[in-house]
Amino acid sequence: PTGRVEDQLARPLHDLRISVTDRCNFRCVYCMPKALFDKDYAYLPHGALLSFEEITRLARLFIAHGVEKIRLTGGEPLLRKNIERLVGMLAELKTVHGRPLDLTLTTNASLLAQKAQSLKDAGLRRVTVSLDSLDDATFKRMNDVDFAVADVLKGIDMAHQVGLGPIKINMVVKGGMNDQEIVPMARHFKGSPYILRFIEYMDVGASNGWNMAEVVPSAEVARRIHAELPLEPLGANYTGETAARWRYLDGGGEIGLISSVTQAFCKDCSRARLSTEGKLYTCLFASRGHDLRALLRGGNNDAEISSVLAGLWRGRADRYSELRTINTSGLSGRANKVEMSYIGG
Ligand code: GTP
Ligand code: 5AD
Ligand code: SF4
Ligand code: SF4
Repeated sequence: PTGRVEDQLARPLHDLRISVTDRCNFRCVYCMPKALFDKDYAYLPHGALLSFEEITRLARLFIAHGVEKIRLTGGEPLLRKNIERLVGMLAELKTVHGRPLDLTLTTNASLLAQKAQSLKDAGLRRVTVSLDSLDDATFKRMNDVDFAVADVLKGIDMAHQVGLGPIKINMVVKGGMNDQEIVPMARHFKGSPYILRFIEYMDVGASNGWNMAEVVPSAEVARRIHAELPLEPLGANYTGETAARWRYLDGGGEIGLISSVTQAFCKDCSRARLSTEGKLYTCLFASRGHDLRALLRGGNNDAEISSVLAGLWRGRADRYSELRTINTSGLSGRANKVEMSYIGG
């Protein structure tokens, strides 16, 4: 039961995003607000986590169904012990076309300077770094653990030096919090080897107190940058890309705008998500995942698990962001969505 699969909306399975830990050393206000993620928060116990062998086994089965890109996420993936060993195991897998995977990782860069070389050596191809501001006071207000901008920049530079590029920088824009940093961020990364992407603040999970008034629409982000640093649109790199690409007219490189709220991109969404404890989510906003760990630990063989995966993807009809735009335009849709730190960005 291998081969490519399409879901109910004819979307192929292309991307697998694997959360390797639900823990993080940051407390970003839009993701793991301190009030909820305090010392009493019940993180998953070690035995609940998929082992590297279990992850790799599932990855191989997903690849047989067409996955070509794997992203490791968290929480903060570099907090997972011996993450380099998992990277090494995944780096050996080949796509159905016999090509190496696009193997990447999303990180807050707190451990990146220290780990860049070993990740590269293990076979990681590139990284994406979250950075919400260049101003220390604003950045610290957002990460809420007093982490300094300079240390993130150090991590980015080290990753670049060891060849973990092209590196993307993700900035979540929260109105009234860091939107004054849009143009300074654009200016800073213009002409650098890094691709800056602006992300609309989303109503993920149930704990960040999301409010439409705090979303700065990508059109507004583009307008503000264009007024000072003129831009023109670029075509997509591939179908289903999250970011709309723009380039500076003067040749200063490109930026991306990720508009999951104002211009949902569910139509071509080819992303499956595997949670830290091995549940498969077919949408970032799903309230329930399918327990693959039970199959792994219940003695099912590859063929059995593979046909379950295919069946889950074939049955998929999720398009939460499109429906939110149609139905609620301003209200957070459902209360029981899973947290981003559990399912991974
Ligand atoms: P690249 O291959 O590097 O372009 O990766 P990507 O854009 O697919 O992944 P990345 O993790 O960098 O995505 C950036 C952000 O876009 C995430 O942190 C989320 O905020 C948002 N995002 C990614 N995938 C989805 C999705 O399927 N749905 C929604 N609503 N948002 C998404
Ligand atoms: N809205 C948009 N993006 C978010 N992320 C986490 N929470 C949110 C949210 N509420 C994404 C960011 C960050 C990554 C780890 O997760 O892109 O860089
Ligand atoms: Fe940690 Fe990333 Fe969430 Fe911030 S956005 S709390 S760095 S997982
Ligand atoms: Fe994909 Fe769900 Fe995001 Fe739409 S809301 S792009 S279906 S993950």
